[in-house]
Amino acid sequence: MAAASAAGVAGDTKVYTGKLTLYVLLPCGVAATGGLIIGYDIGISGGVTSMDMFLEKFFPSVLHHEQTAQGTSQYCKFNSQPLTAFTSSLYLAALIASLFVASFTLAMGRKWSMFGGGVSFLAGATLNGAAQNIAMLVAGRVLLGIGVAFAGLSIPIYLSELAPPRLRGMLNIVLQLMITVGIFSANLVNFGAAKIKGGWGWRLSLGLAAVPACAITVGSIFLPDSPNSLINSGRHEEARRVLCRIRGTDEVDDEYADLVAASEVAFSVERPWREILRRRYRPQVTMAILIPIFQQLTGINAIMFYAPVLFKTIGLGGDASLMSAVITGLVNIVATFVSIAAVDSHGRRKLLFQGGCQMLICQVITGTLIGVTFGTSGDDSISKAFAVCVVVFICVYVSGFAWSWGPLGVLLPSEIFPLEIRPMGQSISVAVNMLCTFAVAEAFLPMLCRMRFGLFYFFSGWVLVMTLFIALFLPETKGVPIEKMTVVWETHWFWGKFLKNEGAHVEVADSKVQMHNGTAV
Ligand code: BGC
Repeated sequence: MAAASAAGVAGDTKVYTGKLTLYVLLPCGVAATGGLIIGYDIGISGGVTSMDMFLEKFFPSVLHHEQTAQGTSQYCKFNSQPLTAFTSSLYLAALIASLFVASFTLAMGRKWSMFGGGVSFLAGATLNGAAQNIAMLVAGRVLLGIGVAFAGLSIPIYLSELAPPRLRGMLNIVLQLMITVGIFSANLVNFGAAKIKGGWGWRLSLGLAAVPACAITVGSIFLPDSPNSLINSGRHEEARRVLCRIRGTDEVDDEYADLVAASEVAFSVERPWREILRRRYRPQVTMAILIPIFQQLTGINAIMFYAPVLFKTIGLGGDASLMSAVITGLVNIVATFVSIAAVDSHGRRKLLFQGGCQMLICQVITGTLIGVTFGTSGDDSISKAFAVCVVVFICVYVSGFAWSWGPLGVLLPSEIFPLEIRPMGQSISVAVNMLCTFAVAEAFLPMLCRMRFGLFYFFSGWVLVMTLFIALFLPETKGVPIEKMTVVWETHWFWGKFLKNEGAHVEVADSKVQMHNGTAV
């Protein structure tokens, strides 16, 4: 019932008046610094854990093991539970926090949720930069994790709510772009910090996260809350004022009326968590769960977290390893632009196929190169030329990810849910992403030790599975207005049958969206 009226609210494909104004760009810019911190936290730990002075202070046994790894396979040099916990604890904290942050964001608004994220990031970065013992280190990681949960949930919603509808997809990918810039900055800082005499470079690496954290903390105090958020808290006049300002026109009657009506519908759904469990939402929920799982099973974070450690493992020097991580970070940024340019013209499915095939081929080649030259035992030494080849194929793999599963793993879950359950859908997707990111961070080093080069085949097997899954089950959402999204499921060969007796939320025959072979035309 609620779903039917939600579709009716925005039933016809209206084009609202309004342009892209500075009042949208500035807040979006501030919000996007949240992506910078999320990325910085992803990229910083691998480089820091490959710095000898950091290991000596907190994990002396790992350093000893690394330096005297005789008798132990090179593949196992860095396999240490406390070291892994340093990386993964952040994502465990983010997972737990993401379960509570949705309610906070609903009650307090997007603005204060971003502020909460900023404060948490700031405290975490300060504790980490000043850490004297493992407890301070872990407490700092936990606070950063809480920040990731706040930022990961509130920023995509804030961006979508502020953006003019036709630019929603692009602005969403800008957040992913900022994440890649954050990862790259972290790689670059690590490269410089490792050279600092006196061995305190790791403090700089960890502490510098405070800079973007300050930007979002202070910036969010001055940000307007989104019109949707203001309407939700009963501040209708202010909501209308903000809408006029961000759209750069006083002619916002249509959009404002739709926002109010949509908010009423959302309010009328008394138990959104129960609503989302209904059979009619099964296709969307399946995607919100599987997309982040698949995204992490591409193995991307094995590279993003552990590239310097991996490159050291195959025999590159400390400096060359950190430099190689800088290069993969740069490739990640550049390739994300390809996605921004192609996502609305070529569509989501094409990018996922192409990226999937590219990743699969590169993973098989990388695994084979390491296996053939480095040996199953990991005792042989790898020649420089082969090590460079490995770095090149990893870069091609990263570019495949960066124009497919990277941005689309963020965009798809945010565009497939009907309004009344959108925050719930988004929070499921963020929580699953954190859970899987945690699992990869925990499992990569022990798996590398056990499966050796076969680990790359393991991830390539999953890439094959997810590419087939996309071919069979993901309808194309390119060009479909967000309010009409139900059409893509109802006309899909499999989901259409699944939903047959559920009663369509939108009259497909009435819809202005025409589907041809699963694509909006
Ligand atoms: C993923 C992160 C990953 C990053 C790499 C994001 O979409 O969620 O886990 O590290 O892409 O660019």
